[in-house]
Amino acid sequence: MANISVFGIGYVGVVSAACLARDGHAVMAVDIDQNRVDVINSGRSPIVENGLDDLISDAVETGHLIATLDAEAAILNTDASFVCVGTPSNADGSVGLSYVKGACEIIGRAIAKKSAFHSVIIRSTIVPGTMESVCIPALEAASGLKAGVDFGVGYYPEFLRESTAIADYDNPGLIVFGALDKPTFAILNLLNKNMPCVTHEVDLRTAEMVKYTSNTWRAVKVTFANEIGNIAKACGLDGQLVMKLLCSDDKVNISSHFMRPGFAFGGSCLPKDVRALQQLAKARDVEAPLMAAVLQANEAQIGRAERMVTGSGKSVVGLVGISFKPGTDDLRESPLAELASRLIAQGHDVQVYDPNVSTAHAHDTTAGRGNDVVPDLRDRMVPTIEALIGASDILLIGNTYPEAVSPLQKAMASQPMVDLTRLQAGVVSNGAYQGICW
Ligand SMILES: NC(=O)c1ccc[n+]([C@@H]2O[C@H](COP(=O)([O-])OP(=O)(O)OC[C@H]3O[C@@H](n4cnc5c(N)ncnc54)[C@H](O)[C@@H]3O)[C@@H](O)[C@H]2O)c1
Repeated sequence: MANISVFGIGYVGVVSAACLARDGHAVMAVDIDQNRVDVINSGRSPIVENGLDDLISDAVETGHLIATLDAEAAILNTDASFVCVGTPSNADGSVGLSYVKGACEIIGRAIAKKSAFHSVIIRSTIVPGTMESVCIPALEAASGLKAGVDFGVGYYPEFLRESTAIADYDNPGLIVFGALDKPTFAILNLLNKNMPCVTHEVDLRTAEMVKYTSNTWRAVKVTFANEIGNIAKACGLDGQLVMKLLCSDDKVNISSHFMRPGFAFGGSCLPKDVRALQQLAKARDVEAPLMAAVLQANEAQIGRAERMVTGSGKSVVGLVGISFKPGTDDLRESPLAELASRLIAQGHDVQVYDPNVSTAHAHDTTAGRGNDVVPDLRDRMVPTIEALIGASDILLIGNTYPEAVSPLQKAMASQPMVDLTRLQAGVVSNGAYQGICW
């Protein structure tokens, strides 16, 4: 069992403190608000949350949970601190870090007076890079000690939802954390060892980003369901039934399919059907800004790839794949064909390797249906991946093909490359190699 201090007795802090105490840990809950401290010490919950009053009254009675205003005493008497203070929006919408910074300064000053190792684990929601640019400097400046060496540092985002907070704490969908040092990883693993869910150890920034990704995804889901519901109602349909049926497909619709960052969508269906639904909404006087943003964002992704190539200053572009996805010769609304056409218009010599389009060309002189953007495509086709690599100043990877992977992975070391699909798991942008989202 561990001795833990929890800074901030708000929604996150009080639930964590009560659940840790219930699980047998010795918990000191710290706040700057006397009233919250008094409410906890009287065995009650300072917030309305299903089941929390009982947990707190039991934990206070057994002595597993004590609340205090005395931050120094809490640091001196525990092995690790969870920082759960608020991060409200600044006036411009950016994340407000004054409470987090203030808490780190208080904790840093107390750590300076302690000889035993102490881990500081931030649970507040903070944008990627905040641990490194704000929390760690504040802790080091206040303590005069080195983070990751003299004291531990971790970031461990909380995903619980108010109203089901205890159930979410006990049965989380995701546990992810980062730390600078082994003792902090060890305490986080110890605290999570009985959770019915895999724990993911990552770097601090990835953990910070995952929290924002999770909340923004939840927000996008709500808005998407609402827009569909509004359009459905305008067509005399039950929007909840439509979404229920959509969600019953956990193979493609509610799954990790289409959730891998990379290049734009295209093909004969998605762009056309998003446009048509948008037009249907317009015709029924239903606002659907998310639908409009989907097409705008897709267009922006093509522009992003275009700038990555034009910004390289290279002239001959070896495009791997021009159909809208591998495994087909279909060029209808292929974002890779659109990208090729824009690069050609900018003066690049674009050469293309696409075995499926080449096969279609060989079998049928009218092949290439839907290619209304690169009229001289046949002349730009290169028969082998080796020939394409040899002819190019920069390689642009749009699709991958089994026979192309190994030669392209070798070329990666010596040739400039813009990768829209990720040739090799784990590879990240580095000098001449640039991945579109990694
Ligand atoms: N509310 C949620 O459902 C939820 C879920 C997951 C993550 N989060 C994130 O967790 C963080 C906390 O959210 P919350 O809703 O629990 O906040 P809250 O506003 O309810 O509570 C914050 C508490 O911190 C206290 N505090 C401020 N400075 C302090 C200091 N120096 N020392 C000790 N206590 C101090 C405040 O007095 C307050 O009681 C935020 O970053 C939030 O985005 C919230």
